[in-house]
Amino acid sequence: MVNEYRFQHPETREDYEQLYEVMRRSFPDEDVDIIVRRLVEYHPEMSNTDYFMVKHGDKAVAGLVLIPQKWSIDGEELNVAEMGCVGTVPEHRRKRIQWILNKEFDEYAKSKGYDMCVLAGIPYFYRQFGYQYAVELDYETEIEVNILPEETSLVSRAFKEEDIPEAQRLLEQTQNRYLVHSIRTPEIWKMQQETRTYGAEPFKSTAILDDHKLVAYYRWWVEEKVFNVKELAFKAESYVDDIAACIRQEAMKQKAEKIKTKLSHEDDFSKYLIERGAEKNKPYGWQIKLLDPRSFLEKLGPVFEKRLAESKFKGLTKELCMNFWKYKIKLEFREGKLVSVETVSEAKRVLGMNPYASIQLFLGYRSREDLEYAYPDFYIRGGNEGLIDVLFPRKPGYIHYCY
Ligand SMILES: CC(C)(COP(=O)(O)OP(=O)(O)OC[C@H]1O[C@@H](n2cnc3c(N)ncnc32)[C@H](O)[C@@H]1OP(=O)(O)O)[C@@H](O)C(=O)NCCC(=O)NCCS
Repeated sequence: MVNEYRFQHPETREDYEQLYEVMRRSFPDEDVDIIVRRLVEYHPEMSNTDYFMVKHGDKAVAGLVLIPQKWSIDGEELNVAEMGCVGTVPEHRRKRIQWILNKEFDEYAKSKGYDMCVLAGIPYFYRQFGYQYAVELDYETEIEVNILPEETSLVSRAFKEEDIPEAQRLLEQTQNRYLVHSIRTPEIWKMQQETRTYGAEPFKSTAILDDHKLVAYYRWWVEEKVFNVKELAFKAESYVDDIAACIRQEAMKQKAEKIKTKLSHEDDFSKYLIERGAEKNKPYGWQIKLLDPRSFLEKLGPVFEKRLAESKFKGLTKELCMNFWKYKIKLEFREGKLVSVETVSEAKRVLGMNPYASIQLFLGYRSREDLEYAYPDFYIRGGNEGLIDVLFPRKPGYIHYCY
């Protein structure tokens, strides 16, 4: 029927052009159509079923994309579906079209075995689809250029494709400090270098060498006299002074007055700047939803076993019945191993695990104590507090973009 809203994946060239037009009209002056076009043309894994659109008659009026990636939780690899470029053209808004798209997105993500859906999106809107803030996002530290040291013996030059394998090792070493982090494949490294785009933003990149060996790299962009450091990884903390000097030299060349980093406040370079008086922001958050909490907890089995083995609960034998109120899940540990994770019909009111709070616990974003304080329907009773603290420690995450 001509007037109905109808979901489809793009199939023809004309469909893709219509999807770009939806993005241009939904996000005026934000170049989101260019982001989608770049994914279509360059992303090594995405195909037409990763693009979602709704048509009214034969004209596309809304769309979104699924950007596949892998994230790690304490070393366990998870399949992540990032929802991005969510838009409805102005004259079709508030007609629940995003409900159609979200339903299709979830069904598709589930059928493809994704463990989590994530997005870096506008406030509040996505709560209706079950998303909750659960990993830190959008950090900033800002400092005057002339506060950084001037002298260094390290050499800077433009980053080359041959630098990728070593840069990847440096990045992975940096990422180890984060409980939740992304896993960037060599193909995505290449795509980012080729398109000169990090996430949705342009960048240039510089390599830093000590005795002809790569010891650091950073990705940067200058805007309104601010030298933005979007990504940085380096071999050892002992280099931090020299790296600051290299960045200062480049920033001066670019006539910047301030240096702003987008690195986690946990990063050694951010800490170095903060010690020197940099202003830091309060970060925003990734919004996250689990498609299947039972299989998610099952996947985390090796993580739980490692945490137990390093604690006073080594060799634990116990059943933990988590009451998520709408559903209940039993974890059975035998001699320190997770032997089963099952949905059950009964659970006492011992582990009260409001799902919106639990995702924050599972991803280390909030501690058990923080959540008990914030939510009356999240509580840990029966003397299980210490065990829950061991199984789910509070520890910051950070996601380096993977597209
Ligand atoms: C945000 C946007 C995608 C919503 O699209 P839409 O088709 O109007 O969404 P829906 O009609 O499916 O909205 C579902 C519900 O959310 C509500 N809603 C719509 N926009 C909202 C907003 N910005 N914040 C909070 N709630 C909103 C609607 O009122 C509706 O609830 P109701 O049926 O109870 O009234 C659209 O306004 C848009 O394209 N905005 C510009 C681009 C943008 O900001 N995209 C998001 C990037 S993360």
